[in-house]
This record gives sequence, C-alpha cells and structure tokens, in this order.
Amino acid sequence: MPILRSVAALRSVVDAWHDAGLRVALVPTMGALHDGHMTLVGRGLQLADRVIASVFVNPTQFGPNEDFAAYPRREAGDAELLAGAGAHALYAPTVDEMYPDGFATTVGVSGLSEGLCGAFRPGHFAGVATVVAKLLLQARPDVALFGEKDYQQLQVIRRMVRDLDIPAAVVGVPTVREADGLAMSSRNAYLTPVERAIAPALFRALTEAAARLAAGAPVAEQEERARVAVLAAGFASVDYLELRDADSLARLDRLDRPGRLLAAARLGKARLLDNIAVSPR
Ligand code: PAJ
Repeated sequence: MPILRSVAALRSVVDAWHDAGLRVALVPTMGALHDGHMTLVGRGLQLADRVIASVFVNPTQFGPNEDFAAYPRREAGDAELLAGAGAHALYAPTVDEMYPDGFATTVGVSGLSEGLCGAFRPGHFAGVATVVAKLLLQARPDVALFGEKDYQQLQVIRRMVRDLDIPAAVVGVPTVREADGLAMSSRNAYLTPVERAIAPALFRALTEAAARLAAGAPVAEQEERARVAVLAAGFASVDYLELRDADSLARLDRLDRPGRLLAAARLGKARLLDNIAVSPR
C-alpha cells in the first residue's frame, strides 16, 4: 500500500483510478487508528472500489492549550492496520504540504459550529471544516466517511459539503464501542486504568436518559439527572449534556422530533465525547 506525501502524488493516484472508471472513497483521520476508524475503512470498501485513508494531525483544529503536541502519532502501525484491512493508499501529508507559507483561507460553518463543542473549543470547527474541505478537494473522492461518534463534526461537514457544492457523498457511520459501551477514541489512551473503569458511565448515563426521554420524561430533568450520574461516577466535570435536534442541532425542550443527546465530559487528561439518538415513541 503506497504512502502518499504530496497533493500531486495523491492526485495522480486518484486520477488514474477515476480514468479506469473506479469509485473512490476517502476516510479522513488523525491516526492512532482503532476499530472505529477501521469500521469506516470497511464501509468505504463496501461503497467504493478504492479506499484512501488520510492521517493528518491537523494543527488548526487544536486550541493553544490543547493536546496537539501530545496527540498519539503511530504512522507505521497505522499503515500496517490499513494495509491489512485492504485500504489501497495512505495519504499522510506534512503540515507544510497542507498549509504552505502564506496560507490564509478559513472555511467557517456558522450555526452548527457554535454551541456544544464549539463553545468549549473556539475555532475548532473552522479548523476541521478547513482541513476537510482541503482533503476533499485534494483527493476528489466519490464518497467520504465520517463517524457519528463526532456527531457535531459530522453535521458541520454535511452542511459544508452541501453549501460549497463539493462533489462527494458524505456517509455517517454509527459509533463503534468497546464491550462495556465506551466509544472508541484515540484519546482513550490518555486514561489511567482507574479512569478507564469510570469512563463507560458516560454512555450508560446517555442510554438511560434516552430511554426515559423516549418514554416521555421531561427534557431538563433528564439532562440534569444524567449530568449528576456522570459526575457521581467520577468524571471531573461535564462540559455539556444536552438534547438537540438531530439535524440542525438546535435546542430541543420537548422531544417532538428526532433528537440527539450529546455530551462532553472530562476525566483525567481526557475529554470524552459521546452521543446517542433519541426518538419520540
Ligand atoms: P479522528 O478523531 O481521527 O477521527 C477520524 C474519523 O473516525 C472521524 O470521522 C470520527 O468520527 C471517526 N471515529 C472516531 N472514533 C469512532 C468510533 N468509535 N466509531 C465510529 N467512528 C469513529 O475526527 C477527526 O479525526 C478529525 O477531526 C478529522 C475529521 C480527520 C479532521 O482533521
């Protein structure tokens, strides 16, 4: 499996595939690959003839006090996993290739990028939207796969692709979990064994709240009860735990349409995200 370092190398590979009439899927990642990422690759193989995964730890989506320097980087292991799964190429550009001297453009998706993670990570979704727009324009895939694990990110990317007429189909993939329910994440590596035992409480609280909401329990009461449960389990703080409209991410005070219960909570060095669908019965 080739490892491509430049836009030119990527383009020549993808152009040759397209010339041969093949459908191409792109799976953008920041590496430290786990079964969640690999599920996106597997779905890509079902939907297309060729799958490219990208690994790029994108500096512009990290805040000044965030974990850009500490973010796990294991390219050799990632390349091995991808080759074993049947991916056809790895695109791993340098920061200079992605952001050459003089780079000055930012893609912003208003509305969807504000609130939830956007409120706690200023500039984060502009960094995500900018790099994903670049990856899609660099690779020009027919389809691009993203995880529901980062649900707000998925909605931001869907909106951007529609608004900018980027000719790729965006496919969302359900969250892949550990046996105890914890959503797989490269950042789970930050957890100590004690914290790792606490971590599944986030998904448990969301699952219980979702069941009660579906049965008609009041929204504010269930949000609060779930927040208290997460803190009681040993999380240090809850950034947010809120029911939102599943498409627009607007606040939902009553469950009268498809909703999404979304949370971010801090545990040790990690900030864990999770979310779950909630539908009125
Ligand atoms: P990263 O966190 O590496 O995730 C890459 C993709 O894998 C994202 O679409 C994410 O939602 C998905 N993913 C992560 N964990 C998952 C899980 N447990 N189940 C299903 N899918 C999962 O998200 C990013 O990188 C970056 O922001 C990126 C989109 C690559 C832009 O830099």
